[in-house]
Amino acid sequence: MAVPRTAPILVASNRGPVSYTLGEDGSLTARRGGGGVVSGLSAIGPDAGAVWVCAALGEGDREAARRAGANHLNPGDTGGQQVRMLDIAPDVFAAAYNGIANSVLWFVHHLLYQTPVEPVFDAEFAAQWAAYETYNAAFADALALEAVDEAVVLVQDYHLALVPGMLRERRPDLRIGHFSHTPWAPPDYYRLLPDDVAADVLRGILGGDRAAFLTERWATAFADCCAAVLGAEVVRDGDGAATAVRFEGRETRLGVHGLGADADFLRERSRRADVEERLPGLRAQIGPGRKSIVRVDRTELSKNIVRGLLAYRRLLETRPEWRERVVHVAFAYPSRQDLAVYRDYTQRVRQVADEINAEYGTEDWTPVALHVKDDFARSLAAYRLADVALVNPIRDGMNLVAKEVPVVSERGCALVLSREAGAYAELGEDALVVNPYDVEATAQALHEALSMGDDERAARTKRLAAAATALPPQAWFLAQLRAL
Ligand code: G6P
Repeated sequence: MAVPRTAPILVASNRGPVSYTLGEDGSLTARRGGGGVVSGLSAIGPDAGAVWVCAALGEGDREAARRAGANHLNPGDTGGQQVRMLDIAPDVFAAAYNGIANSVLWFVHHLLYQTPVEPVFDAEFAAQWAAYETYNAAFADALALEAVDEAVVLVQDYHLALVPGMLRERRPDLRIGHFSHTPWAPPDYYRLLPDDVAADVLRGILGGDRAAFLTERWATAFADCCAAVLGAEVVRDGDGAATAVRFEGRETRLGVHGLGADADFLRERSRRADVEERLPGLRAQIGPGRKSIVRVDRTELSKNIVRGLLAYRRLLETRPEWRERVVHVAFAYPSRQDLAVYRDYTQRVRQVADEINAEYGTEDWTPVALHVKDDFARSLAAYRLADVALVNPIRDGMNLVAKEVPVVSERGCALVLSREAGAYAELGEDALVVNPYDVEATAQALHEALSMGDDERAARTKRLAAAATALPPQAWFLAQLRAL
């Protein structure tokens, strides 16, 4: 059956707005996801005819994609959103997603390699790269099929870096934008990639009319890589900021859209019954009269959870006055557990937390409360209670936790923030800023955060919340559409 060309707006991302689990009886259960793109897209409503193209991630998704056939997923599962889920061969998907996207491109942009021993670009890598090309081509094919003439296509993230170029070959009439939700590596680090791959990724994104980023810093790094790797011309404005890249007769504009927190959603969601229900348990765990240092992350190498724990240990060591008076509530939710290095990291997080509890814990005080089971309502409850939020990634495209906590906080929350998070550009002034590798300085920042007076903390939180919500998801999404 031919797919009609009806979509005036298309979004493409690896992870879609819905995921399915397959029951033993063959039934499918849909679960809708959150995140900036989902709420951003809601700005245009289901009647705009937008289509979201995503990959089937697991067996449930594959089954749902097969049942949908040439049609979109059942709109009842997606909140009315038209979604095409691509059933890409499992081995191709695994090589592209785990092999290239998460183990190479993610590592490059977050500077995660231990360079004396990795990366090693060998024959296995070459095969994975071929799979990444196949997977990107599947997206380009699907988008080309459904887009009306001159449709706008918003391609998301490092999984789909080749899509803009591939799509332009298939459909030169389209207006194509790429958005990077990650940082972008500086040229010297980016050039760890094999030369042809480094060039192909840049060429892929430059196939679009626009390449957009979460901060100026990442946009500049991208432009610098285009100049260093491709010899492309970078167009700059009067202040020297890169505004476009010219390459092979085409110009790709650069854009910056700092995704903000969704204040309305967060304020309403964090007052719901399931959040209220979790408050007493959390309060009991912290204990009466004690302060809390809260962190909420996926257990992700870039989040720097281990150094966060080491800084907390150092705080207890060097400032004994905080012993029994503070609890570090650390939510470290499972992520990318298909990768051994993530499983090892998760283990290390547990181990360091256990060590701190063994070393400092007393009969009625457990210094670290580590939770590894994903629970959004409990995270919101912790946001409400937190005295200090610790957000210390070694590198992060934005980090929305840093933006969400000030919005939800009840009594004001001091923010200890890494200067390597994209959010630093907007929140740096009212946060206690740290070099994420410096455990000693982070311990000192935690001490200052815990010692901050109530008035100052409340005033800073108010300003942080205002900065954090300057560009909510819907405005963020519309700004990209308009720019194209
Ligand atoms: C984070 C990053 C995004 C990325 C996503 C993928 O949210 O900020 O850039 O797309 O992780 O996570 P996943 O669980 O789908 O691999």
